[in-house]
Amino acid sequence: MELKIFKDYSDLSASAAMQIVNCVKSKPTAVLCFATGDTPKLAYQKVGEIAKQHNVDFSKCFFIGLDEWLGIPPANTGSCHYFLHHYLFAPLGINSSQVHLFDAMTVNEEVECDKMNRLIEEKAGIDLMLVGVGVNGHIGFNEPGADISSGAHIAQLEEITKSVGQKYFNEEVVINKGMTLGLKQVMNARTLIMMANGKKKAPVVSRVLNENISTDFPASLLRQHNHSLLMVDEEAASELEK
Ligand code: GLP
Repeated sequence: MELKIFKDYSDLSASAAMQIVNCVKSKPTAVLCFATGDTPKLAYQKVGEIAKQHNVDFSKCFFIGLDEWLGIPPANTGSCHYFLHHYLFAPLGINSSQVHLFDAMTVNEEVECDKMNRLIEEKAGIDLMLVGVGVNGHIGFNEPGADISSGAHIAQLEEITKSVGQKYFNEEVVINKGMTLGLKQVMNARTLIMMANGKKKAPVVSRVLNENISTDFPASLLRQHNHSLLMVDEEAASELEK
């Protein structure tokens, strides 16, 4: 695992956006899987501009959803679906045929997860996965104790995830379960990037680097991935030893 520390959120985001653009530049048919949340928001906003500057075409790549709040409709501005369309797909002019996200309104959760697993196999895996990290170390909705060999599944959310998650919504919502790619798929991504910014993520970043590698703190698994990058700003790195 490589660690990169940036002066601030803006520099961090520009570099993450550059990683995305470079991936598509070297492989126009890349399969991409991106987290939502506050952390990667600015990076996604910068992708369009950087892609234009470098003349990189996103029309042949494919996007797979990392996670979603079960039961939250796509039109809800707090859904992962809405977020990705608003900050990434619409500005980049991505066609709906280039995207497969979890259907949070599915009547058959198992079928929905199987569909996701099959699609990833058909696409021969994920080239670049960019994730954030929860305060409890979750990746996607792989909460502490998640199964290392899991594929797409429905996860019972921890109380902390449910309460922190309210920040994405305009009104209070019931969010008990998440749909998520599993740790097997996270670890199988050919490149895995984790981003973290701000003081509130400093204890988490310290744990990512210092905790025993275990699913008790899923983000620690990043250190076991053979092509992973932890990108943080100085605030998020502030609890690391020099
Ligand atoms: C959310 C999502 C994750 C996200 C993480 C961090 O609950 N399930 O995919 O990466 O928590 O979110 P944020 O970037 O807002 O801190």
